[in-house]
Amino acid sequence: MSQIEVKEVTFAYPLREGVGMRAVKNLSFSVEKGEFVALVGMNGSGKSTLAKLLNGLYTPTEGEILIDGISTSKDENVFEIRKRVGMVFQNPDNQTVATIVEDDVAFGPENIGLPREEIISRVRSALDAVSMTEFADRAVSKLSGGQKQRVAIAGVLAMRPEILILDEATSMLDPIGRREVLKVAKELNEQGITVINITHNMEEAAFAKRVLAMRKGRLAIDGTPKEVFASGLLEACGLKLPPVMQLAKALADRGFEMPSSVPDEEELAEEIWRQLK
Ligand SMILES: Nc1ncnc2c1ncn2[C@@H]1O[C@H](COP(=O)(O)OP(=O)(O)OP(=O)(O)O)[C@@H](O)[C@H]1O
Ligand SMILES: [Mg+2]
Repeated sequence: MSQIEVKEVTFAYPLREGVGMRAVKNLSFSVEKGEFVALVGMNGSGKSTLAKLLNGLYTPTEGEILIDGISTSKDENVFEIRKRVGMVFQNPDNQTVATIVEDDVAFGPENIGLPREEIISRVRSALDAVSMTEFADRAVSKLSGGQKQRVAIAGVLAMRPEILILDEATSMLDPIGRREVLKVAKELNEQGITVINITHNMEEAAFAKRVLAMRKGRLAIDGTPKEVFASGLLEACGLKLPPVMQLAKALADRGFEMPSSVPDEEELAEEIWRQLK
């Protein structure tokens, strides 16, 4: 059994009359515990809808989603699903509920009525995991965007999730904030948390071990970044290759021999240097 099993899932937003547009269409895939997946696709391709289906905010119109074997479609499972699947959204200013950092992180554990000691210990370890311990007693409003997103991640971590979904969590951040958040995601992944990073940034996608691309509510690509970037399918999904790949292609057009796989900047520089020599 995989940690996440999406089985022939279709989801239509309800309309006042009749059946709404299907935002997710007959989608099937699975994710193993500990994977780091990038989910890409054009605006409106269904990524956020899928994320909300994964954490039980929406339930499939058709098909089924199992998280650790637990169906998201049954009302009685909602609590278990939400506990397992944590989400961080795009806007750092919309995600905090308390004024002070540690109170914000404590909100979830307090809400489920955990004992005081347990709350303190969870808040401490969650802030530690995102390197925000020294900001525990600061005002959230005084933090940078990247720091706010790390506090939002800490709030999710305090619920001890098994899966972390970042829905464009870095898209409003400057490059430093983006790097900070990705570093935290990578560390958490190394500790065994499954990460699904929804992104428009192809370099961020290359950072994942597996890339899923959606197109009009369907899964169009599923592979390693190398496979996906080399396949030519990204362009068919309306997406652009990462700059380093665009450069590799432009060089190939001019007669350079390029490796069939995707180089990073270092590998590309090395390859050009080798051929120029
Ligand atoms: N609350 C809603 N009610 C009705 N339709 C919706 C709703 N939210 C999204 N949709 C529609 O569902 C489709 C998928 O939207 P979704 O937000 O999942 O896409 P996305 O891939 O996350 O896009 P983006 O990259 O812009 O965030 C779109 O056609 C969108 O207009
Ligand atoms: Mg979205």
